[in-house]
This record gives sequence, structure tokens and C-alpha cells, in this order.
Amino acid sequence: MEDLVSLCKRRGFVFQSNGLYGGTQGLYDYGPLGVELKNNLKAAWWSSMVHERDDVEGLDAAILSKPSVLRYSGHEETFADLLTDCRSCKSRWRSDSLADSNCPSCGSDDLTEPRPFNLMFKTSVGPVDDDQSFAYLRPETAQQIFINFKNVLDSTSKPVPFGIAQIGKAFRNEVNPRNFIFRLREFEQMELEFFVQKGADEEWHEYWVEKRLDWWLKQGISSKNISLFEVPEKDLSHYSKKTIDLMYEFPHGLEELEGIANRTDFDLGSHTKNQKDFKINASVIDNLESTAKLSVLNTKTNKRFIPYVIEPSAGLDRGFLALLNEAYKKESLGNNKERTVLSLAPHLAPIKAAIIPLKKNNKALVNFAQKLKADLQALGLGRVLLENTGNIGKNYRRHDEIGTPTCITVDFDTLENGTVTFRDRDSMEQSIISLEKVVELFTKTIKQT
Ligand code: GAP
Repeated sequence: MEDLVSLCKRRGFVFQSNGLYGGTQGLYDYGPLGVELKNNLKAAWWSSMVHERDDVEGLDAAILSKPSVLRYSGHEETFADLLTDCRSCKSRWRSDSLADSNCPSCGSDDLTEPRPFNLMFKTSVGPVDDDQSFAYLRPETAQQIFINFKNVLDSTSKPVPFGIAQIGKAFRNEVNPRNFIFRLREFEQMELEFFVQKGADEEWHEYWVEKRLDWWLKQGISSKNISLFEVPEKDLSHYSKKTIDLMYEFPHGLEELEGIANRTDFDLGSHTKNQKDFKINASVIDNLESTAKLSVLNTKTNKRFIPYVIEPSAGLDRGFLALLNEAYKKESLGNNKERTVLSLAPHLAPIKAAIIPLKKNNKALVNFAQKLKADLQALGLGRVLLENTGNIGKNYRRHDEIGTPTCITVDFDTLENGTVTFRDRDSMEQSIISLEKVVELFTKTIKQT
């Protein structure tokens, strides 16, 4: 993990938040390369979950949530960790993280009884800070999908089964944020809520487990590092009938990367108006505040029903960490030399190509390189960078370390014969190719998965 953290800081992937003032635990900022990688990962998810399907629509809802949303969702009641305080050194621990009845910090056995601590952040909306203006920062993106269920249904006329996908920030006041960007207080989720008929739910659950596993493999996770784990009944969230976690072998151990839950009719049943009009299977609290029925018409029986929900919910930051971990390698080059290389799948690489003029500030070479950069950039495959430093070897090393799949060197032969040197990150092979071939080879390299 230390190597990854150091690379992330040195090369501009991830920085400690508020670092100038000592930093804040559990908060990180994504730097110039981090934001590119994160955006590429989001784009890959969005493409597979929304664009490639006709049964899923997207949403981008507000983060600040009315308390009623999180009251009926069950979060006010249940979204808590049990905490234990050490009376001797005043440290605070998640009770389930204590191996025995001693404080991990000072060893004292003078510990308080476990007591619940709600993980939701609160803020106020508007100029007056009172009970009326109070709001939560959403602890998951899912709830606003349920709140918008009728809006999306009315505006798209989708028949069940269909889904609503959202990528966005979620906030949890984690007691022990740790392991770099693994457990954060502010993080991003990529969530799909897929609405199905009761009876078809188990089959759809299996479908999404397979689909999501396959997607992570396509992003570059190796099959030996990812596994399925069925969450035991006693550990299931209050809304879940069955949850399969995709577990990844992170640098600090095997932990959850994504959860795929069968949320039954709990969510729409909790938020719907006129609950008594429906046969709601989940145990929900009475809702007298909701203003809309969250049901759909069964065209066969002509009766309205509350759909079940299958939810694949992935952590973007955890995905980022897992993919960096997979890609990071130190390779021996012989003669006591080695290189660090980030073998990211090309579609995820922050920079797709570096265009390097052989001589720094040589007008003819730089002009040529600038035009080549503009031409490749215009293909829309991702960021292409002009490197006008003149040091080819240093540029190759830097771009290997940040995962750039191709380096293209413009030299005097380019001006005379129209050829460039095309270098492949993984094989380090360099081929002299004609300019006409550059677009084809570059496109082929970036589009491979
Ligand atoms: N809507 C369901 C839900 O939020 P969850 O298991 O609590 O379920 C889903 O969270 C995913 O969000 C997890 O699999 C994980 O990848 C990510 N996640 C949850 N808490 C996180 C945290 N504190 N920091 C980073 N990622 C987190």
C-alpha cells in the first residue's frame, strides 16, 4: 500500500484533503491524473450500465436530502455503528473492530459499553439554522433514485423490468476511516436500482452478480483477486433479502468492492403514498407524508404493484484503488535497472498518448507534434499530451509510471519521410511507422480491452 500511496502523491493521482492545514482523516482529493482515471472509470460504468442498455435510464440527483427521505428509508433508525470509548486514553473505536476487551491504543480494559452512533452528516438549508432547515448529506445515492422513481417512469414510460442508474457522492461519518481511499467519509458510488416483478427477483439478482463480476474483470481486475461472498443473514442490511458482495484482495486484505442486494419492495414500499392499497412484503414504517404512489401497472392482471429492487452498488474510490493495485508493477530491465509501470487497461489510462518532439523547442518539430496532438485529441479517445522537454528516456519512464499506453516521438525523419516512432508501454517495443498509420494504431491500442 505504501508504494501506491507514494505514487499517487508523487505523480498527482490522489492528495490528502485539506493537506495545507494538516489534513482531514477520511478525505482525499483527486489530482490531475486521478481525476482523469476516475472519469474514465465512471464513463466505462455509465456506458455499460446505461448507454449499452435500453432498459436503464440515468439520473443525477441532489446530495442534500430532506430528513423524511432518510427517515422512511430506515437510515435515521438503523444507519449506525456501535462505538466503544476508552476511559483511560479517550480513544474511540468501532465495537466490532475490538479483538478483545482491551483498548488497542493503550491496552486499558476500562472501556464503555457499546452505544450506537449515527453515521449521517447533517447540515442546514437556507439562512436560518433551525429544526425546519435541517438536511442530511446523503449516505448513499440510492434513496434519491427511489424518490425520483415516478418522475423517471412518467417521463420515459419504461415497462418493468427497468433500472435507474446514478453516479455521485455519498457521505458517512465513519468512525475509523482508514486504508487510504478504501474507507472514506466522502466518497463516490456507482449505483443501479433495477426494478423487477416479485418472483423474477432471484433470477435478476443472479444476473446482476454475474454481469458485475464480468465488468470488473474487463476493467483489469484479475480473477484470482476477486471473489463472491454471500452476506450471512444476521449481517444483512435492514432492507436486504439477500446480498452478494464482490470481494477484492486489497493491499490491506480481502474486503468489499461492490455489493449486489435484493432490496425487495422495501424501498418503494417505504416511500409510497397509500401503503395500504398494496401488498407490501417488506416490513416498512407507516408513511403519511409521501405525495405519490410508487407503483406500476401489471398489464396482465390490470392491478398495480410495488416492484422489487435489485441493486448493484459499487464504490468508485474502492474500484480506483483496486485497479491501481492490479496495474502497479516493478519490472526488472536487466543490468540492475528496473522500471515502474502502471499497466492500466488503455481505456482507463489517464493519458492515452504522449507526443514527444525529439528536440525541445525546435520550431519545426514542435509544430509538427502540436498538429499530431490536435489530430489525435480530436478522435475523442481521451487526453493526449504534448511533452516538450526533449528528454525521451525520462518521458518514457514517467509515462510508464502513470500508465500512458503509447508514446509517439516526432524526429527529423518525421519532417523528411513522414515517419514517427511509436512506443508501446507494456512491451516497450518501438516501431517506426508512417504518419498515415498513426491514427489506426493509436485507435486500435486505446480501444482494446
Ligand atoms: N446503496 C447500498 C449501499 O450504499 P453499501 O454496502 O453501504 O451499500 C456500497 O455501499 C458500496 O459503496 C460498497 O461496496 C463500497 O464499495 C462503497 N462504500 C461504502 N462505504 C464506503 C466508505 N466509507 N468509503 C468508500 N467506499 C465506501
